[in-house]
Amino acid sequence: MSKAMDLCALSVFTLTLIIAVLLAVMAGPTSPLTWSMVGVLVLIPFIRRKMKDRRRVDWKDEYSVGIESIDQQHKNLINLINMLQTTVDYSTGEEFERECLAAVVDYTKTHFVYEEGLMSKYGYPDFEAHKAQHQKMIDKVDDLLAAYQQRPESAMKDTLDFLKQWLIRHINGTDKQYSDYLLSKGVH
Ligand SMILES: [Fe+2]
Ligand SMILES: [Fe+2]
Repeated sequence: MSKAMDLCALSVFTLTLIIAVLLAVMAGPTSPLTWSMVGVLVLIPFIRRKMKDRRRVDWKDEYSVGIESIDQQHKNLINLINMLQTTVDYSTGEEFERECLAAVVDYTKTHFVYEEGLMSKYGYPDFEAHKAQHQKMIDKVDDLLAAYQQRPESAMKDTLDFLKQWLIRHINGTDKQYSDYLLSKGVH
């Protein structure tokens, strides 16, 4: 959620709280209207939590490429992206946000180097095409990082959306294509 949306939600919550207190005073604590407002107050944080949960990426067994070391790295990447999402959702501050973003980018590059090392070592036939996809992703992230310097809030949203969509699509598609080949070479 953007800071503007957060501020808006907080304003609505505060206004509802004030109205609920006023109603409780005016209509009395037994009024159905008062209890309706109390219900809304209880629901708002719950709905906000649900919305934040929906922005997380959860690991699913179907994402497995069958190679333990790579699955673990994919899980680590998902965790880092979720951590970055949390820094945005809870407005933890620009410094921590930047650190998390740098960690995601660094770990992504480390993971690509690891995968490319295995594909190269065992002569994976589609190595060059796979490597080109990695490079394209890094180029896109570099563009988003440049945009982040100009307009941090909207660029961060774009970056998170891109990271989540690209990662799942890549793991579930391109990465899975090397599974049988690398497993047949004894990689595990
Ligand atoms: Fe991967
Ligand atoms: Fe890959």
